[in-house]
Amino acid sequence: INGKQENIVWHNCSITKSDREELINQKGCVIWITGLSGSGKSSLACALSRALHNRGKLSYVLDGDNVRHGLNSDLSFKAEDRAENIRRVGEVAKLFADAGIICIASLISPYRRERAACRALLPEGDFIEVFMDVPLHVCEARDPKGLYKRARAGIIKGFTGVDDPYEPPLNCEIVLQYNEDQSSSSSSSSLSEMAEIVVSY
Ligand code: PPS
Repeated sequence: INGKQENIVWHNCSITKSDREELINQKGCVIWITGLSGSGKSSLACALSRALHNRGKLSYVLDGDNVRHGLNSDLSFKAEDRAENIRRVGEVAKLFADAGIICIASLISPYRRERAACRALLPEGDFIEVFMDVPLHVCEARDPKGLYKRARAGIIKGFTGVDDPYEPPLNCEIVLQYNEDQSSSSSSSSLSEMAEIVVSY
């Protein structure tokens, strides 16, 4: 609380999170996917949402790229704006979880401090951090949007992994490592395998 809320009083409704969870037979939580650009966060988020949907579980994806088109369209990629981006998505994800929904947030979220702050918004066990542990050279070789190329050319300044920091998680719930063997073959099966790992967790 930063002190600005001194004249604001929390209002409780009679219907609680558990009431909502009971109604839709699931438990609301946040699955937070972090990793470099091009590490496969968005693809995993969609595969995971599909896997949950197929099991009759309601989920919703908050993707960094997408959220930056609306709610966070006022934010840049400088450090303080990234922090605010992460904070807002953390707060929205908390609301989704409170609604009983499995919220999948997929953002670079490069700073440990901000990820920890999002975790702290939720009860123990309700924040599941997933690290897409894909080396920079692999993300850069993929370069699906051509952004690394632009960053290396100096057209984009402050690009994560190139000239802006990424702090990998030290102690997260799930680490999904890039498997060299799967790179050339069926990427979709490796994606669904990764989704299954998270679902099983
Ligand atoms: S952050 O750091 O969490 O606020 O970033 P996020 O909201 O996830 O947005 C990342 C996507 O924005 C594009 N993009 C950049 N990424 C990193 N650094 C810079 N400077 C930058 N500029 C644009 C990029 O497409 C990211 O998408 P993903 O899906 O991660 O590749």
